[in-house]
Amino acid sequence: MNRIALNFEDGITRFIDVRPDELVADAAYRLGLNIPMDCRDGACGTCKCQCESGEYSLGGYIDDAMTEEEAAQGFVLTCQMKAKSDCVIRIPASSAVCKTKPATVAATMVDVRQLSPSTIGFSVRTEPANALRYLPGQYVNVSVPGSAQTRSYSFSSTIKNGVADFLVRNIPGGLMSTYLASQAKAGDALTLTGPIGSFYLRAVTRPLLFLAGGTGLAPFLAMLEHLEANIPTHPVHMIYGVTNDADLVEVAALEGLAKRIPGFTFTTVVADPASRHERKGYVTHHMPDSALFGGDVDVYLCGPPPMVDAVRAYFAEKNISPASFHFEKFNPSESK
Ligand SMILES: Cc1cc2nc3c(=O)[nH]c(=O)nc-3n(C[C@H](O)[C@H](O)[C@H](O)COP(=O)(O)OP(=O)(O)OC[C@H]3O[C@@H](n4cnc5c(N)ncnc54)[C@H](O)[C@@H]3O)c2cc1C
Ligand code: FES
Repeated sequence: MNRIALNFEDGITRFIDVRPDELVADAAYRLGLNIPMDCRDGACGTCKCQCESGEYSLGGYIDDAMTEEEAAQGFVLTCQMKAKSDCVIRIPASSAVCKTKPATVAATMVDVRQLSPSTIGFSVRTEPANALRYLPGQYVNVSVPGSAQTRSYSFSSTIKNGVADFLVRNIPGGLMSTYLASQAKAGDALTLTGPIGSFYLRAVTRPLLFLAGGTGLAPFLAMLEHLEANIPTHPVHMIYGVTNDADLVEVAALEGLAKRIPGFTFTTVVADPASRHERKGYVTHHMPDSALFGGDVDVYLCGPPPMVDAVRAYFAEKNISPASFHFEKFNPSESK
């Protein structure tokens, strides 16, 4: 079986298991996902999607359905395509149109850790262990125990034996922050809804630049764990910026990853003028030209909204246009 991630245009992802001899569309419909479809014959092009990673055979179709140029750009016809490996496919329709919605998974708290005065880590386990899948970089909506509300959190690890990690900034008085800082304990029941998000690691075809702000480090930790298991053939540089010294967490984990992933380097930056850190300021103050490869670089950016906006403005002002640019803003939640 190959594992196919279907990413809908509203950011919802559903995973399907597809036999090597099975058409991707057949597998999707077998599981109740009504992805766009009409002729089922490779003639109309209605089922055309973009395959972002993985290996596959295109099957038979006519030019009217898909041109050679589109096929070269990674487009596929799901009514004809067969997967030869795990794949990620972008569906140009919303999850609701395809009659699906994010999965809801029951989870149990296994560990809560105060990583620094400002930052908390926690881990959850799902039953069964394969109940939850996600792409490195995605997030999930987590129920806040004792309330009817949820908060969004990026996974800060890949999932191992059903256990996934998170990294959370402790916002004094915040609903989830207060629960995590003062009440959370192993055994607490949580509900996870997702995975969600288009901020996931694409196939690595050129150098990568990761820009993390504060707990915006979380999705990069998941991406780096993935890269440790799938060593990239291009260099990866990360600049991890925080406001105060206390916000700098998981540096030992990053040092370990830098030893184990050939070509992965990182620097840390602290904005607080009173800090004694060797590099002060914002991530944009410590972005060497050598990390930009004259634009032939895929940039991933994640953090609080002001940081994300500032970096995007910096790129625009400096006329830096990377080959691709992906970002996630940790917007404060509206009450849900
Ligand atoms: C896609 C996505 C992924 C996210 N992933 C992460 C993650 O991995 N780690 C993480 O720490 N956060 C993440 N967030 C933010 C997270 O969802 C919560 O908003 C945050 O943890 C605050 O929740 P709370 O219940 O503690 O505070 P709330 O009860 O929601 O807020 C309390 C008060 O603090 C304010 N506030 C909320 N957030 C902030 C902030 N960032 N800075 C300053 N004031 C704030 C609110 O406006 C409110 O006044 C993510 C957000 C999104 C949209
Ligand atoms: S549904 Fe017509 S080409 Fe696939």
